[in-house]
Amino acid sequence: MQDYQEVLEEILIPEDALQKRIQELGQEISRDYEGKDLLLVCILKGGVMFLTDLMRAIDVPHTIDFMAISSYGAGVRRSTGSVQIKLDLATPIEGRNVLIVEDIIDSGHTLTSVINFLNTRRPKSLKICTLLDKAERREVRVPIDYRGFTIPNKFVFGYGLDFDEYYRNLPFIGVVRAEQIQGKR
Ligand code: IMP
Ligand code: MG
Repeated sequence: MQDYQEVLEEILIPEDALQKRIQELGQEISRDYEGKDLLLVCILKGGVMFLTDLMRAIDVPHTIDFMAISSYGAGVRRSTGSVQIKLDLATPIEGRNVLIVEDIIDSGHTLTSVINFLNTRRPKSLKICTLLDKAERREVRVPIDYRGFTIPNKFVFGYGLDFDEYYRNLPFIGVVRAEQIQGKR
């Protein structure tokens, strides 16, 4: 596997800006859920770095759980709207205040499917927190309650987001070089 520097076009969001914004989101969420029961649902794998930093910035009591989803068609960049639940929650969510923690919303198809799926279990409330919003690419409307950053239509990696499964460990959000993407997506 090549070094990340060969993949990186530019750093889009540096580590300090990510951390500062996550603190703000944590404070906002803490205010909104004061005195309420809260369950954070992280969408694996991309949301995992964001979850672990966000939960440390939230100072109201809460529990966490995980879900894994896959869009049909491995290696296909565009999500089609048909998603598969690869890992379901371990916790019942009926009557609970659920906050979905996601890395990025692109077309919006993945989150729409997740929302429809979770709503059948009758949570008390269901809200969405996404670190990144690639708003230009939206094909279906997604109600975003907490948004870290709106980003341009570029393929990004790092801070939980992968490029062909690697580089999730990088502490910043970077843009993938165009020549790396050619022929792949
Ligand atoms: P959507 O269904 O098109 O909204 O796709 C959302 C999913 O696509 C995210 O949860 C990511 O897994 C993936 N994705 C979308 N854009 C990017 C990107 O720029 N880098 C890495 N993953 C991405
Ligand atoms: Mg994801």
